[in-house]
Amino acid sequence: MRDPDTVPDIRDFRRVVFFTGAGMSAESGVPTYRGQGGIWKQYDYASYACQDAFDADPAKVWDFHNYRRKLVAACEPNAGHGLIARCEEALPHVTVVTQNIDGLHQRAGSRTVHELHGSLWRVRCGDERLLSFDVPFEGRRADGRWWRPDIVWFGDALRADVIQASVEAIERCDLLVSIGTSAVVYPAAQLPLLARRAGATMIEINPDETPVSDAYDLCLRGTATDMLGRLCRNLD
Ligand code: APR
Repeated sequence: MRDPDTVPDIRDFRRVVFFTGAGMSAESGVPTYRGQGGIWKQYDYASYACQDAFDADPAKVWDFHNYRRKLVAACEPNAGHGLIARCEEALPHVTVVTQNIDGLHQRAGSRTVHELHGSLWRVRCGDERLLSFDVPFEGRRADGRWWRPDIVWFGDALRADVIQASVEAIERCDLLVSIGTSAVVYPAAQLPLLARRAGATMIEINPDETPVSDAYDLCLRGTATDMLGRLCRNLD
């Protein structure tokens, strides 16, 4: 079904997974990666968002990530983030599986959030991890080593524990709502298809068609806030 008159009522479902991408935060002012104004149109990720670039010039990579921290720190969760957080209060089981690193789901109040691609607000060095909201973050440590952004860069493996938790939620859900992802980056892009195999109702929210749109029962061609507003229209 494509953008029909009747949109299901989210309250009819018990185990919901919201699978989100950069489009979820677009209305908060956080740039997406591709399409108009996309980050990868301004910056070559091979020079700013991969381990080789970091090894070659950690200060340059930190300049880029501090630029992104400054951008995101000025943004607020949008009404769509808020509706997803309210669903977690109103429905028995709600999980957010996000590709986003901006932390806006958590700031909106969502508690069960699996960050497939890490977080702009977390750093790591060896086995040490640190959550820091410093803007800018001083990347060099006192011992001379560098903190590394705890973000899954191109060529990095996703964390096994995050994948496992995400797959468990996706394989058990009765509704998967994909919001604001171009579905071109793997392995994340294939995760929603596990829900289809498990028999869940599949909804895609995106103004544009994506390569996996045909896997969805319903494609709502609009923005995250507008379409979530329709889906969650009866939430008290
Ligand atoms: N509401 C919903 N969707 C939107 C909105 C909006 N207001 N604005 C844009 N979109 C859609 C675009 O049509 C596009 O399909 O959001 C999608 C954003 O796609 P990308 O910029 O490719 O972001 P994403 O799919 O999250 O990228 C996946 O790629 O670079 C890596 O690690 C990075 O996590 C990221 C991954």
